[in-house]
This record gives sequence, C-alpha cells and structure tokens, in this order.
Amino acid sequence: MVVLISGTGSNMAALVDAAEDPAYGVDVVAVGSDRRGTRGIELAEKAGVPTFVVPFRDYSDRAEWDTAMADRISGYAPDLVVSAGFMRLLGPAVVGRHAAVNIHPALLPSFPGAHAVRDALAHGVRVTGTTIHFLDEGVDSGPIIDQVAVPVEDGDDESSLHERIKAVERRMLVDTVGRLAREGWTVDGRHVRFGRTEHSVTDATDTKEQR
Ligand code: GAR
Repeated sequence: MVVLISGTGSNMAALVDAAEDPAYGVDVVAVGSDRRGTRGIELAEKAGVPTFVVPFRDYSDRAEWDTAMADRISGYAPDLVVSAGFMRLLGPAVVGRHAAVNIHPALLPSFPGAHAVRDALAHGVRVTGTTIHFLDEGVDSGPIIDQVAVPVEDGDDESSLHERIKAVERRMLVDTVGRLAREGWTVDGRHVRFGRTEHSVTDATDTKEQR
C-alpha cells in the first residue's frame, strides 16, 4: 500500500511498524505527502520506506495536482491507498484509479472536514472518536469500515482530546488495514464487509469495490 500524510505521521509510523511482521500481510511501498519537510516524511525515510512529495502549490489547479498525485501513486502500483492524516481532498484521478481509505478524528457523519476535533469540542459532545472509511469524491463521506468512540473529558482542549483519539486511531488503523489486506473486502452501497465474495474472486475485471 501507499500511505499519504501531511504532517506528523504517527499513524503512518504505526503501519510501517506493523508491516515489519510478515504475518501482518502488508508492504508499505511508499509514503507520499503534499508538503515538503514534514516530520512524517523524515520518519518514513529513516525507516527506509521510499517517499515522494507532490506540493499543491506547484500546480495551477486542483485537477492538475490530483492527476500528478495519482501518477506518482500509480507508479508504485498499490492495492490500497491509505490516507492517514492527509489534509487535502483527493479528487477523481486518485479516487477513480485506486481503492483508498481515510481515517478521520470524529464519528462520521458528525464533524467532517479539517477541524473535526475542534468542531466536536465546540458542539459540546460527550463522546466523539475516530472513523476509517473508503474514500469517495466527497468530504469524509465514503462508506464506513469501522469506528471507535472516545469520551470527551471535562477540561479537554483540542490537543488533549486529539492525542487520546490518535492513540485509539493507531490501533484501529493497523487492525483494519491488516484485515483489508488479508481478508479482502466487499462494498455494497454504504455497507462494507470484510471478505471477498465468490463473485469478486472469479470476476476478471476485479473492481476496486470487490477485492
Ligand atoms: C489524525 O488524527 C487523523 O485522523 C487526522 O489527522 C491526524 C494525523 O495525525 N486526519 C484528519 O483530520 C483528516 N481530515 P498523524 O499525522 O500523527 O498520523
């Protein structure tokens, strides 16, 4: 798989660690980013994983950037793209070519967008959490694979709550991505199931919805 990040990369690092065990069933073939000089890219380089950066500002519009990103990703021929703290919306070039999952620090469909933890706190919810879902062309709107709840504590600020969510997220991400790789998956409308259907195994077209 190719992992996409924009910043610290703690979720990516958890995947790279897990992938060191052959029984996990995943190879991280590259880590990509839309930003140069991030801690996450530095971590991936230290771990010996190939990296690439496709900065948004180097392209005249979103579609051009999306195509450039898709081309770089396709060069590694991944079975799965994992958006793990990637803070830009991936467009039709990437999502149309590759099966891709995203983690989001809230219980979707509540609080989509770039400030999920801040928005949940501002709304006064007592429980929030994290979601892993397939990417579609909307904002955090694709079919949900798994969710884990995290209680909001009195006195939480954005940073304390986000750190507790990230600790839960890392476990959920490693567990879910491993299962997708080892068991395959089927998407039926908004419903995701682990395991290949008989149809998907025998279907030569092997759509990205059924692997
Ligand atoms: C994670 O909490 C992830 O869910 C969030 O960014 C953080 C990245 O942390 N993603 C989004 O908010 C996407 N909308 P990390 O770089 O330490 O893995």
